[in-house]
Amino acid sequence: MVIHEIPRCELELGARWYAPLIAPRQQAVRRVLDRLDGAESLSVGALPRAGLASAWLLGVVSTYGRPRMRRAVTAGAQAAERYNLGQFQGILDLAERQRAAREQFGALRGLGRSLLDHDREHALAVLHNWQARPLEAPQPESVLFLRALTGWAAVAGRIPGELHARLDRVADALGWLAEAHLSEDAEETPCFEALADLPHSALVEEVEACLSAVPALRQPRQPRQLSRWQPRTPPSIEAGRGSTLLGEDAPAVEVALRQIVDDGLYVDVGRWLLDRGGKRVRPALCLAAAQACGGPRQAAVPAAALVEWLHQASLVLDDVMDGSEVRRGAPTLHVATDVGSALGAFCWLLERLYTAAEGQPEAVREALLDGARQLIEGQYEELCQTGVVWLDLRTYHRILAGKTAALFGVAATVGALSVGASKREVAAVAEFARCVGLAFQIIDDLLDYTGSLDGFGKAPGVDLCAHKITLPVMLLRGELTGPDRARLDALLHERVADEADLDWVRAQLEAHDIVPAVQAAARAHLERSERALRRLPADADVRALRALAARCVERSR
Ligand code: IPE
Ligand code: IPE
Ligand code: MG
Ligand code: MG
Ligand code: MG
Repeated sequence: MVIHEIPRCELELGARWYAPLIAPRQQAVRRVLDRLDGAESLSVGALPRAGLASAWLLGVVSTYGRPRMRRAVTAGAQAAERYNLGQFQGILDLAERQRAAREQFGALRGLGRSLLDHDREHALAVLHNWQARPLEAPQPESVLFLRALTGWAAVAGRIPGELHARLDRVADALGWLAEAHLSEDAEETPCFEALADLPHSALVEEVEACLSAVPALRQPRQPRQLSRWQPRTPPSIEAGRGSTLLGEDAPAVEVALRQIVDDGLYVDVGRWLLDRGGKRVRPALCLAAAQACGGPRQAAVPAAALVEWLHQASLVLDDVMDGSEVRRGAPTLHVATDVGSALGAFCWLLERLYTAAEGQPEAVREALLDGARQLIEGQYEELCQTGVVWLDLRTYHRILAGKTAALFGVAATVGALSVGASKREVAAVAEFARCVGLAFQIIDDLLDYTGSLDGFGKAPGVDLCAHKITLPVMLLRGELTGPDRARLDALLHERVADEADLDWVRAQLEAHDIVPAVQAAARAHLERSERALRRLPADADVRALRALAARCVERSR
């Protein structure tokens, strides 16, 4: 074979995009090059594609294979490098190239045959994978190379067929990248996706480091051209179940609710949210508080509508935060549209709320603002405590007080303020409502396990899947030991529960009498709420407040 002089265009290894793959196995690649005529003086990774194929082969075998058949592995790397070298030296004459190829691959073929005889099972698995995605022209040379060497590695290293198939996809993508590297096409490679399919290893990290060295690939998840965002309106749905809590005030409250969202960018979303129904607990509380403070219920209707909208906005946000897909028996807003639309609508609702509150006394506006602040603090703390299996009762109650009870307190506060209640009355109904809010959320946390989609309107198990630590599982955890405790802990901070896990948790709740214990905890808050009512004048009409409180605990939706 004629050895042409190799042009000295060597770059330092560090300047090569595939350096992170070669660097850890530089010495092994060096040994391969040292045995090749004409490559002894080359630095590792100096030739186009040289080093990459060998480094990949050596990396694959030592990471996923059994590196027993060193001779076969090295021979594969040598054959690849020799071919590279030939290409680089520009052996353009066809006959000469064919002769070189015959020489270079002769030994390899021999070894290949012995490998096949030696380990037929692995060789057949490799052939099977190649058949599934044929290894033939017009795939570029680098692709053929890397895929062939990956198959070689699979046989030599006894890598299982299923793993070889995944490695083959990475090799394919790496090959395309080697061909197109630093060109415009580099971004097209599906290498990141293929890599994500491999068991995590140092080799995967090295290839990732290679990819991030290619400027066009640095941010694989960001499309180069943003497709134009189209505003999305939720498709119309059947009207949800109406409220049974508002009694004869329901029409007035619904009108007030609609008026707040009758103008602006997300008008359709506002209507859609209202049509979905909802229990209207907070407006009912607002009107009942007004009644208990001696005023006409109707006077509190505008304030009741404001509180309900703050609640509805918080649900839009909460569903994004919790990854909930169903609410009130229908898709949540971000599922019916998209997260961008839902968050846009959330901001719009706050703007609507702010505008509608302009005509309200300052104390009402302050109460709403305070409720929003506490709500978001509660949500924040809940996120911080996600997956904390040893969550204590104090922290749990603090979360509930912020995310749910505060708004209950605001509902009663603004109801009382709407009818000119005294400070003492406002404080009494607010305290009452906060206690009811705690009970309400405890029951919500229970229904997340015991409720049904039909009745509750939300998919059961959302809290478990999102690793939210709530009273039912906190109490259950105290009862479990050994493998049962370990299983629950894993579900609460590690694994995502499936149907069988949820059934198991339900059975455990049943077996350890947790359901009545949670209900009792909720009732204890109702008892405290009764004490708050004692601070109202003796003739205060608290019937509506009491009835509402009872329904917040004895509920299935
Ligand atoms: C859901 O509140 C959020 C919680 C505080 C548990 P509701 O159960 O009052 O929701 P809707 O308005 O009736 O759907
Ligand atoms: C409700 O908590 C808190 C707020 C809406 C602020 P959850 O996350 O338990 O409420 P649901 O179950 O989604 O209604
Ligand atoms: Mg939620
Ligand atoms: Mg939540
Ligand atoms: Mg819930």
